[in-house]
Amino acid sequence: MCGIVAYVGKKPCQSLLLEGLKRLEYRGYDSAGIAVIQDGALRLCKAVGRVSNLEDKLESIGNFSGTIGLCHTRWATHGGVTEANAHPHTDDRNGIAVIHNGIIENYAALKTYLQEKGHVFKSQTDTEVLAMLIGELYEGDLEKAVQAALREVTGAYAIAVMCEREPGTLVVARKGSPLIVGIGADEFIIASDASAIVAHTARAITLEDYNVVRLTAEGFRTSTIHDVPVTPRIEQLELELQEIELSGHSHFMQKEIHEQPKALRNCFRGRLDAKDGRVILGGLADHGKQLTNLRRVVLTAQGTALHAAMIGEYMIEDLAKIPSIAEYASEFRYRNPIIEDGTVVVAVSQSGETADTLAALQEARERGALSLGVINVVGSSISRNTDAGVYLRVGPEIGVASTKAFTGQVAVLAMVTLFLARRRFMSADQCADLIRALETVPDKIEAILAQNDRIRRVTEKYVERDNWLFLGRGYNYPTALEGALKLKEISYIHAEGMPAAEMKHGPIALINEGMPAVFLANRGRQYEKVMSNIQEVRARGGHVIAVATEGDEEIRRYAQDVLYVPDIPECLSPMLTVVPLQLMAYHAAVLRGHDVDKPRNLAKSVTVE
Ligand code: M6R
Repeated sequence: MCGIVAYVGKKPCQSLLLEGLKRLEYRGYDSAGIAVIQDGALRLCKAVGRVSNLEDKLESIGNFSGTIGLCHTRWATHGGVTEANAHPHTDDRNGIAVIHNGIIENYAALKTYLQEKGHVFKSQTDTEVLAMLIGELYEGDLEKAVQAALREVTGAYAIAVMCEREPGTLVVARKGSPLIVGIGADEFIIASDASAIVAHTARAITLEDYNVVRLTAEGFRTSTIHDVPVTPRIEQLELELQEIELSGHSHFMQKEIHEQPKALRNCFRGRLDAKDGRVILGGLADHGKQLTNLRRVVLTAQGTALHAAMIGEYMIEDLAKIPSIAEYASEFRYRNPIIEDGTVVVAVSQSGETADTLAALQEARERGALSLGVINVVGSSISRNTDAGVYLRVGPEIGVASTKAFTGQVAVLAMVTLFLARRRFMSADQCADLIRALETVPDKIEAILAQNDRIRRVTEKYVERDNWLFLGRGYNYPTALEGALKLKEISYIHAEGMPAAEMKHGPIALINEGMPAVFLANRGRQYEKVMSNIQEVRARGGHVIAVATEGDEEIRRYAQDVLYVPDIPECLSPMLTVVPLQLMAYHAAVLRGHDVDKPRNLAKSVTVE
């Protein structure tokens, strides 16, 4: 969602700030703004739309030259997409400028209080309230004013603040939203995401919730909002610059689809032991006894991560024989869930910052559940709030449409399943067979990717159609949901995914002449039933695109188009069957002329409820 970049040091900072902001464009936003203190005075510029609009505006008013500044990309929550609502926001007395990610939940009450004190607001945002509050509490020390203001607010925030009256001082703080302080030579680069920092430094302070840092070109001081000094945790950022560049690809989504074999090899490295029929997951090792005695698994997530979690649910029940359920985090957290002894809650999230997933996890922990994370971003909020976990290790995912994180999540959940199953009923031989099958996944994905041109040609045939169905059964019912989500989020085609059997209970009414219906029809326990469903669609004029197992010639009699995937045990098949669907969605979006990596209205990481 929103992106933050700030700088204090000895160099003119405008170009560094804008370059950082461009690195954060993938997070999704609708307006952008920058503030710099130049010759002791605050200069501000905002624009609706892309960062390039902001650059054009700066060019026309004259570029800024100060050595301290902040900039921001906003994804609208409180108030529409307007320049007035774009960040930075300022107070009305002291030349204080604030950028903010998150939501100040008690902003309405604070606004009334501040209006009664005579403050006049120019925007509808919660952030302007925070800027005014800091201004109201300012008595010549910005750090103290920020601490005092943050003691008054509830909600989530990552903020950066500066003030005309202290032109060399930047104050940053976080609670519930990510913020990283990069340490350079005589300078600090602050951002909500490491990708805006790694071009300058790999040394960084990772802040805990309620930490406040006062920064000048000469050094920094870390404290809590109650002014208790904190010893900072300084770490090396692991991100490499080339991991966040397009490297010859047209889009990050395309790059990430094609990176899947490599990403999964990395995910499996050192974790699979086919010889002894066991999976080695260091992150779970300390909880072996609790995991052996598990009675129930609740997997919780949103979006694509929920689809992976659903596959995890099927695998854990089927292979480890533990009752399992996958649930939207947003529903789980508010429905007063029952957490009995022996329950483990598994939060699945690429970013590790999804607000609903984090909140669901906290709810479950408060009720006594053991918590595990299946997360990609190391050190993210969710990963820091779990008892244990397994990282995906698929590398940074920049494309808003999640691809390699999905296959990584399913791969990790497969490993977690085998880890649990071996502690219960699964023999070493059975486990070894599945491990050997898992090891073939990267090569098999490569074979599917080699069919890219054919998949594009099939997509071309149907790309003008505005309604699509995705149908699957068992392990590939969640894959159908994922195929539909991929198509709709980047190509804006209406698509519905569902269990193939559900079609007859209503959605079959939608089928008309030529409507594309994508069937996950690979070999599995319910293959014959899927064939019957295919015929029901054909009988009503629908066009069937079947994802089938190599060697299945029979299916050509029923489907207009067949996309083949290599054979693999059914429980692992979603990692293969999803790949043609990812490619179809990608090609459909490109063919329709959409900006694949910046789909309208979407943010990469949904950090508000
Ligand atoms: O970062 P997370 O995995 O927690 O994100 C969850 C969803 O917001 C995410 O998977 C979303 O559905 C994807 N953009 C879909 O491609």
